[in-house]
Amino acid sequence: MKNIHHSWAEPYKIKMVELLKISTATQRKKAMKEAGFNTFLLRSEDVYIDLLTDSGTSAMSDRQWAGLMMGDEAYAGSKNFYHLEKVVKEVYGYKYLLPTHQGRGAENILSRILIKKGDIIPGNMYFTTTRLHQELAGGKFEDIIIDEAHDPENEFAFKGNVDLDKLDRLVKKHGAAKIPYVSIATSVNMAGGQPISMKNLKELRAYCKKHKIRIIHDMTRVAENAYFIQQKEKGYEKKSVKEIVNEINSYTDGATMSAKKDALVNIGGFLALNEWDVFEEARNMVVVYEGLHTYGGLAGRDMEAMAIGIGESVCDDHIRARVGQVIYLGNKMMEYGIPIVKPIGGHGIFLDAKKFLPHIPQENYPAQTLAAEIYLDSGVRTMERGVVSAGRKANGENYYPKLELLRFTIPRRVYTQAHMDVIAESAASVFERRNKIKGLKMVYEPRYLRFFQARFEKLN
Ligand code: F0G
Repeated sequence: MKNIHHSWAEPYKIKMVELLKISTATQRKKAMKEAGFNTFLLRSEDVYIDLLTDSGTSAMSDRQWAGLMMGDEAYAGSKNFYHLEKVVKEVYGYKYLLPTHQGRGAENILSRILIKKGDIIPGNMYFTTTRLHQELAGGKFEDIIIDEAHDPENEFAFKGNVDLDKLDRLVKKHGAAKIPYVSIATSVNMAGGQPISMKNLKELRAYCKKHKIRIIHDMTRVAENAYFIQQKEKGYEKKSVKEIVNEINSYTDGATMSAKKDALVNIGGFLALNEWDVFEEARNMVVVYEGLHTYGGLAGRDMEAMAIGIGESVCDDHIRARVGQVIYLGNKMMEYGIPIVKPIGGHGIFLDAKKFLPHIPQENYPAQTLAAEIYLDSGVRTMERGVVSAGRKANGENYYPKLELLRFTIPRRVYTQAHMDVIAESAASVFERRNKIKGLKMVYEPRYLRFFQARFEKLN
């Protein structure tokens, strides 16, 4: 009776199910070809287990669904806005709130207000939409994440950390006046959902205070980051995720949020600020691009579901099960010898496509190729996070990121442990025949965020 392993389990039970189609290999082959070997162009009906993203794909609780019925659809001053504003203040600690239709709506407004032509925006690794908005506003993103983040094998617990020397070099080179803010993401998406430590954040805060530089927080997955701090950082073992989230935010001056992730809703986001002047300017701008400042592109019911979802998202039991499921899948993959980014991050498993398909050069899109192969094998839909996602620089050259990854993103509260088994088995069977897999060539390339709509053909 000794040594019993105590499993994590979901702090909820299933009340309603959505039936899935299980396709044949022939059907999948046809669908993949029609989609130009881009999983974004598949019809979701043709997908069995959908791991394209954790964005807007989570299951809402019965309380959130009940909240939808409480929607106050007044054009101005909806009571759901005031509820959301109260929750954002209480849970996240930011003073002023502007709802937006989703995260990139907030990024657009913030970038337009704070960035001038020729500005530099240092950040702990780029995110696709965030960097694009910075560039469209005339700025240049500079990566200041620690080197460990670019190495899938490095097991450092906080690969989301900022390298303060890299930041200092930028400040010395350009001057602090050219840096409107440092852009900090919690649970760094493109690095594999890697957290930033509280210690690093505090040091960054001290540095930025000295040089009078703001910190803007991409808090899309802040609760997952807080969970890793609780589990791995000294001094935080006994703190609740909610307390840790609050402390993280306290070291920053404002935030953009895609509520479609952590906050457990299918649509929504916001811009949160502590500075009145910046808020006032943003409130002017939101009416141009999103909607009135008390709805910002959302229905009243969406804001209500978000307010309730935020509360649920910072519960320790919720986040333990959420990240626990991701870790379960990652461990299964490692048992099969599949190369994944380590340590396992918060929102998904990231396959190292360079290691998985070493015979395919980055020009032939190893991660994109792998996404197509996994789908063909089992109907599991994943997403490329490599050279296609990285896109081109302002001068037209391709970015060639060190990380060439395939993301298995896990929606929250949606799939079961048996689904995780099927996913790992599919990755394993593709791994077994990896030597026979050929790369792709791009035959259609959109100008912006090309990964969404690019088309490919198989190389002969
Ligand atoms: N910031 C991060 C870190 C994100 O992961 C996302 C979206 C955004 C900002 C933009 O938010 O989609 O609401 O406009 N990430 C999704 C993904 C799309 O699949 O990783 P949005």
